[in-house]
Amino acid sequence: MIDRGRLAELCTSEEQRFIETHPRSGELAAQARGSLLAGVPMPWMTSWPGAFPVYVDEAVGARCTDVDGHEYVDLCLGDTGAMTGHAIGAVADAVRHRAEHGITTMLPSSDAAWVGSELARRFGLPQWQFALSATDANRFVLRFARFLTGRPKIAVMDWCYHGTVDETFAVLDGDTVVPRPGAIGPQVDVGLTTRVVPFNDLEALDRALAHGDVATLLMEPALTNIGIVLPEDGYLDAVREITRRHDVLLVIDETHTLCAGPGGATRAWGLDPDFLVVGKPIGGGVPIAAYGMTQVVADRLGPALHAPDADNGGVGGTLTGSPLGLAAARAALANALREEDFAVAVPLAERWTAGVAGVIAEHDLPWNVQRLGCRAEYWFCPPPRTGADAAAAVDHDLDGFLHLWALNRGILLTPFHNMALFSPHHTVADVDLHTEVFGDAVDALLDT
Ligand SMILES: Cc1ncc(COP(=O)(O)O)c(C=O)c1O
Repeated sequence: MIDRGRLAELCTSEEQRFIETHPRSGELAAQARGSLLAGVPMPWMTSWPGAFPVYVDEAVGARCTDVDGHEYVDLCLGDTGAMTGHAIGAVADAVRHRAEHGITTMLPSSDAAWVGSELARRFGLPQWQFALSATDANRFVLRFARFLTGRPKIAVMDWCYHGTVDETFAVLDGDTVVPRPGAIGPQVDVGLTTRVVPFNDLEALDRALAHGDVATLLMEPALTNIGIVLPEDGYLDAVREITRRHDVLLVIDETHTLCAGPGGATRAWGLDPDFLVVGKPIGGGVPIAAYGMTQVVADRLGPALHAPDADNGGVGGTLTGSPLGLAAARAALANALREEDFAVAVPLAERWTAGVAGVIAEHDLPWNVQRLGCRAEYWFCPPPRTGADAAAAVDHDLDGFLHLWALNRGILLTPFHNMALFSPHHTVADVDLHTEVFGDAVDALLDT
């Protein structure tokens, strides 16, 4: 249906337009190649569309301004890290205060217990710990789960993403667990560490856990890293029943599904995990993540951490739980990601979804758009039931074109997602701009 020749021509002309209109970013990118691997400070940044990444001068609220003076509606929001909106005042004040009064001490600050109580109130789990990233939080939880159960393996969903956690870079090839395609330097054979099951497949989960060697099932309540794959009715309740029946600890990773509301999908859908992980926006952009646990789990872990021979070296880190991170989290959670913020952001996501769905329907394209709270994403297939269904429809050329077309017209979309994330700082006009730009891109592509 997509004319690949036309797509290639459009990509070339958009690329030309990007280079011509971003000279300062081009210069900075050329300089960076002298000292930075692949010209970027972090590998994911090579995935942005365009010959080089846009260099940001300022990011405030829902807007980014680049070094060439272009302003963008930011629908990426730092791939969720800035879901609060960029540079919110309360976080800036808290960070400034901590910078002047001590950033890191290896001792608790008074903000720590406030943040723990607030997370308990939001998510319903009573006991909390902190980490620097959601990756780390997941890693620590997996370690605790193996410790508690004495079992060696973990289970994850096919085509999941939970950060750079080695055991989770696993997918199914038929019935065999293999590294994700293109995985860089797998640490060990993932078949030794991990069982993988398709999302929305209860029989496969039951079979995988029946081996008796799985400590924990780590999952997002809806997949959000391969488009959005929503759970079928009753699926999550049945997952809980199956994990309990096999004495497997259930970890819900809410790092992205926090978009469902102030207490994530766990609160919105009444979930009952043993552990919960949340990261990215809870510090308003400052690196901090958290993991919560039930009282039953905490009662077993607490004494173990204090045992004379306990080695806590595998959990935590020197800068973890710092006064800086906790001050930022307190400011962010007190002033953002609240009911009243979602009350603004969710209707914007609904409007965006309707706009994209309208363009898809108008052209009768076999694409879909899914939404979860203030997050929405289009994908090049009918609504997928599993991660593998969604993975089969990945189309890098089409992604690249749509992202670059949007960027050249003032809209930032996250690379490797066709996702829009809304904050209370976005406006109806931002949404309508995207609908228009997306519609024009599809018109250009189909030559209509
Ligand atoms: C569901 C989920 N968990 C964990 C992570 C890891 O977060 P971080 O990269 O901040 O460690 C991500 C990152 O995208 C994620 O999507």
